Amino acid sequence: PINPVLLCGGSGTRLWPMSRKSMPKQFSRLLGDETLYQSALTRLSGFGWAAPVVVTADAYLEMARDQARSVGVAPACLMVEPSARNTAPAILAAALHLLEKDPQALMLVAPSDHAIPDADAFRAAVSAGTAAALEGRIVTFGIHPTRAETGYGWLELGEAPGDFRPRPLALKRFVEKPKAAQAHAMLAAGTYLWNAGIFLATARTLVDAFRAHAGHLLLPVQAAVLDAMKDQNIVHLAAEAWNRAEDISVDFAVMERATNLCVVPFAAGWSDLGDWDAIWRETATEADGMITTGDVTAIGCEDSLLRSDTPGVELVGIGLTDMIVVAMGDAILVAHKSRVQEVKEAVARLKARS
Ligand code: GDD
Ligand code: MG
Repeated sequence: PINPVLLCGGSGTRLWPMSRKSMPKQFSRLLGDETLYQSALTRLSGFGWAAPVVVTADAYLEMARDQARSVGVAPACLMVEPSARNTAPAILAAALHLLEKDPQALMLVAPSDHAIPDADAFRAAVSAGTAAALEGRIVTFGIHPTRAETGYGWLELGEAPGDFRPRPLALKRFVEKPKAAQAHAMLAAGTYLWNAGIFLATARTLVDAFRAHAGHLLLPVQAAVLDAMKDQNIVHLAAEAWNRAEDISVDFAVMERATNLCVVPFAAGWSDLGDWDAIWRETATEADGMITTGDVTAIGCEDSLLRSDTPGVELVGIGLTDMIVVAMGDAILVAHKSRVQEVKEAVARLKARS
């Protein structure tokens, strides 16, 4: 069966100040009643798939456990990282863990910060990639690109994808987080898709890919898995070894270099709720493009998101266009919508100062 591996250890800094290290976006109710993590768990459960492996940070363990329980999902295992090392070590740890049980185990690596409204279409796409994965490919999922997004990975196909029937297509190249000029060129070329951030491969294939392209991660992560402390279904990775692993995403460490990738086009709705522009895009339904949340008064504003999550703090916007203003607790973000990627840098600066 397919073993879902749910990554939920990121701190979601681009959604600061709503997403904080103490309360990252995947565990907050960003849209609707369920958290993004809970929606992801539900999407990955049933259908004859194995119970999911959840990989998260020490600080989020309780939240991950409690939120899973309240949607009635029992994870096969919760892997706990002593420190955040980004997605490459997290995926490698899960792959090594599953490899122990079954080298041919199929892994479906999924992020927890996505909105995918059509779970059936998602499962159909996964089914379409299964045979290729069993043959030793790393299957990616490709989204039709609609803007020159620099926050995503881009997948180059041999030719334009034509219809979006889910079936594996050959991949020429994987380009992670391009510069703006390159993103514009790729959008214009028409032969690229966005990487959905979801990967399907056997545990064996993934471990081999790490060995070939990011061999330096193998030793520390392997040691962290071997020396892990197990407590029922919780696996605490060994800190000393783990902290020696490089902090790097799987996209840069492995996917940009691997030659055995393929892509299944995915046409149903998909959105990475990674930054404020994405939240605005996913939720703005009014004709003036305004989203206001909390104690907010907007006068003559358009295409903006104004949100006050602090009781008693009145937020007033006048004559704003394409702006993001978020007041939460002790912090206020005021940013132009075109520059929300830079929230990450701002958070890094704040961190350096504190
Ligand atoms: N366990 C764990 N540990 N999970 C992590 C860590 C970590 O240290 N860091 C990030 N994650 C989780 C996040 O919570 C998220 O669910 C997922 O891994 C992806 O991380 P992001 O930081 O959100 O990646 P991204 O959005 O910048 O880029 C990825 O996704 C894009 C599409 O959403 C890449 O795969 C891109 O190529 C892709 O286009
Ligand atoms: Mg993301």
